[in-house]
Amino acid sequence: MRLAFTSGELSLAGMRASALAADFGTPLYCYDEQTLRQRCRSLKSLVSLENFQVYYSAKANGSVALLKIIQSEGLLADAMSPGELLAATEAGYDPKDLLFVSNNVSTEIFGEIAQAGVVKCCVDSLGQLSRWLKARPGGRAVLRINPAQGAGHHQKVVTAGKVKFGIDPALIPEAITQAQALGGEVKGLMVHIGSLFLDPEPWLKAVDWLLAIAEQYPQIDYIDFGGGMGIPYDRSQEAEFPVAVFGQALEARLTAWMDKTGRRPTFAIEPGRFVVAESGVCLIQVQSVKINQGTSFTGTNLGFNFLIRPEMYGAYHEILAATKAGEGSSTNVVGNICESGDYLGKDRNLPALEEGDLLVVRDTGAYGFSMASNYTGMGRPAEVLIGLDGQARLIRRRESPEQLLQNQIY
Ligand code: LLP
Repeated sequence: MRLAFTSGELSLAGMRASALAADFGTPLYCYDEQTLRQRCRSLKSLVSLENFQVYYSAKANGSVALLKIIQSEGLLADAMSPGELLAATEAGYDPKDLLFVSNNVSTEIFGEIAQAGVVKCCVDSLGQLSRWLKARPGGRAVLRINPAQGAGHHQKVVTAGKVKFGIDPALIPEAITQAQALGGEVKGLMVHIGSLFLDPEPWLKAVDWLLAIAEQYPQIDYIDFGGGMGIPYDRSQEAEFPVAVFGQALEARLTAWMDKTGRRPTFAIEPGRFVVAESGVCLIQVQSVKINQGTSFTGTNLGFNFLIRPEMYGAYHEILAATKAGEGSSTNVVGNICESGDYLGKDRNLPALEEGDLLVVRDTGAYGFSMASNYTGMGRPAEVLIGLDGQARLIRRRESPEQLLQNQIY
């Protein structure tokens, strides 16, 4: 999101924060089309091989209006539920181009996605492999392999080693035989080591590891290295993920592998956060300012039901005052939920704030709205997209209390 402080207030991609709050209310998830398109383009040009594909991982943000932009930039998409599949289809993706990344999926859901036209499915166990091939006779499968060593910003998002994900590489021959017996075929291999690393080394290690395995199986024509490339949430401490360096290192490996093996499979990655995180912010309002037991608290209307990352992972999001400037002092920015863990940011230096002031929580485009819940009976926030024309457009209405009741039977 392009942010600028002009005439005493913050503007978001050219729109005044106070105007956005007045027009759409708060909390408000806001996205900047220009930033989103730039991120898509930097990934499109990551590797110049035409057999290299980028699947946007829709779990980071499955809003259809954003998926449409991502699709128009030429990124493919992955989905992991019928809901994500439907959102991607609504955005214009053809189900046959999507990658369904499954984890502990029911027979019914495999049936549903096969019916919807999905042909590429990544499976996570031998049982899941046979369920998928029974749902789609003669189908193809991608095996998610556990590379034993992962990376990520928190133990909860490291997805290799002693975790529930992936298939032991020793089981690949058995998976191939099992697929053949069901009239299908194992055509792909995939790894996803975890989420949010700013050092490309662990990822490149996993790339080498998977390429070495793929070399042993000539029928493999799809090799997917997952996602995980991070963004610097704390810009004062962290540097950006070195996209160009990573791209060159990856391309060199893929080219060397193709030269050595004489094979030309499709290579893929599945980034989520990198595509959408920085295009989004959450605009929120200060509801109370107080000193409690000698500690300063700034109470806002953004609780962990709507942005769970700080509470769930201790994640850092930069918080900016949108309607005040000047000398700062330390305060704890908290939400409006009935739990003491409901922090947005601890010990933040912010100008003297008053009730009604607006704040901006940065980098909430990924795993912000998509992880929001209705805990404490609150309807989830609205979302707006600030387009290339500089206009803000509502892309998701705020949920009403009545909508929260609509599936209840009483
Ligand atoms: N592929 C697979 C199989 C995944 O499970 C994920 C993310 C991705 C790709 C995309 O990863 P990314 O590029 O976004 O790191 N809620 C956490 C992140 C969870 C990631 C889950 N899987 C957070 O807010 O940090």
